[in-house]
Amino acid sequence: MAAPRFSKGDSTLTSTDPLRIAVVGCGGMAAFHLRAYRELAQKAPGLITVSATCDVDEGRASSVAAEIAEFQADEPHVYTDYRRLLDEHRPPAVDLVLPHNLHHTFVAEAFDAGAHVLLEKPLALSIAASKLLLDAHQRAHEHSSLVLAVAEQYRRTLEARATRWAIQEAGLIGEPRLVVSQRASLSMGLIAGTAWRHERLMAGGGWVLDGEVHTFDLFHYMFGRIAEVYAVIRTFEKTRYADPKTLGGPTPSDVEDAAMAVLTFENGLLANFTWTHAAPGKTLQQRRYYGSDGSLDRDGLHLRDATDLSGAELQEKFLASLSPEKKETLFPYDTRDSVTVELVDFVRAVRDGTVPEVDGHEALAAMAVSEAFYESDHAGTPIKVADVRAGRVRAAQHDIDAHWGLP
Ligand SMILES: NC(=O)c1ccc[n+]([C@@H]2O[C@H](COP(=O)([O-])OP(=O)(O)OC[C@H]3O[C@@H](n4cnc5c(N)ncnc54)[C@H](O)[C@@H]3O)[C@@H](O)[C@H]2O)c1
Repeated sequence: MAAPRFSKGDSTLTSTDPLRIAVVGCGGMAAFHLRAYRELAQKAPGLITVSATCDVDEGRASSVAAEIAEFQADEPHVYTDYRRLLDEHRPPAVDLVLPHNLHHTFVAEAFDAGAHVLLEKPLALSIAASKLLLDAHQRAHEHSSLVLAVAEQYRRTLEARATRWAIQEAGLIGEPRLVVSQRASLSMGLIAGTAWRHERLMAGGGWVLDGEVHTFDLFHYMFGRIAEVYAVIRTFEKTRYADPKTLGGPTPSDVEDAAMAVLTFENGLLANFTWTHAAPGKTLQQRRYYGSDGSLDRDGLHLRDATDLSGAELQEKFLASLSPEKKETLFPYDTRDSVTVELVDFVRAVRDGTVPEVDGHEALAAMAVSEAFYESDHAGTPIKVADVRAGRVRAAQHDIDAHWGLP
């Protein structure tokens, strides 16, 4: 393993160098990272350079490199082997956009090679894997000030930031009381076209971990931490399809496609949560926040005293409330792309030694809520999220931890 190159306070990055970063994993989500790199190449030239791409599928790594060459002077080097990338290319930073089973080992190897890490959510495929990852980061941070940022972008949209402001800072709905969050539709296709997502041992779970981790981070951002989860999960559709219309390319699946839960927040707020991809017929989608003075949803604010404000008016009020400095932090370079926001936040954390908005601990908090769904379903009782986060309750993750040899 290469010796760490960043000794504490001795970063090779000067304030004028672009941060050289390697994109590792050039599949579906990498396209959104690419869009953000493109925007930054235009709005903040010299901030960041993609110096390499890496994917076991060489065609994907090469095609992403070619796309990057359209907007930056140098075409990135192409790798198909992550260890070779770390040893030969020695990137100061990596952007890991990989299947969940690789998160904890790839992060630890990046730190061993002295690289800062931007990692796609969820933090890892189990709490035990998260612990290894966070321990590796703690050592890398203490020794070399290396940064771990988690690519969690849902809270960084204008809508999410305006909603948080309306609830927490402006107090527009009064004392928060209830969240109603319900989504039901039918999706028999491979989610994002990827088979690994439908295999528990590879993904760590189904959409409750993969997708709803965004929702739980968003809830934390708006209301503070979720303390307890009482959940049931089901797997109704046990086969998913590459082409759901013709039922072509069938793939067996052992991850959930439905979940219902009552969530209790530390501050007493209650959430009624339903998500399913196994509901044929009419699609349902609603999320609304109720407080002592009224309700808020994406259409806007509706108060007890009959005041109405549209979502767009609310966002205007929020933007008007921001100082130029705060606006630059929340929406750097005036972007509205939430992935661009997370990328700039990462670069600033590396350069300025700031803590990223979603660091490992914040990401663990959201992921522990997903794991609490599995633990609650397994135990048939409400589960304290703190017990899951600390690894005291982990029976439902046993097969995953045993498979990957996690302590
Ligand atoms: N933030 C979001 O909104 C969002 C959305 C989708 C996915 N994601 C996250 O992004 C990550 C990747 O998801 P995806 O949808 O892009 O998956 P994907 O399967 O489309 O892409 C993963 C890529 O990693 C490559 N890969 C696999 N093993 C590798 C290895 N050993 N070395 C190098 N490359 C390897 C694959 O060939 C593939 O191209 C996951 O963590 C996922 O949860 C986040």
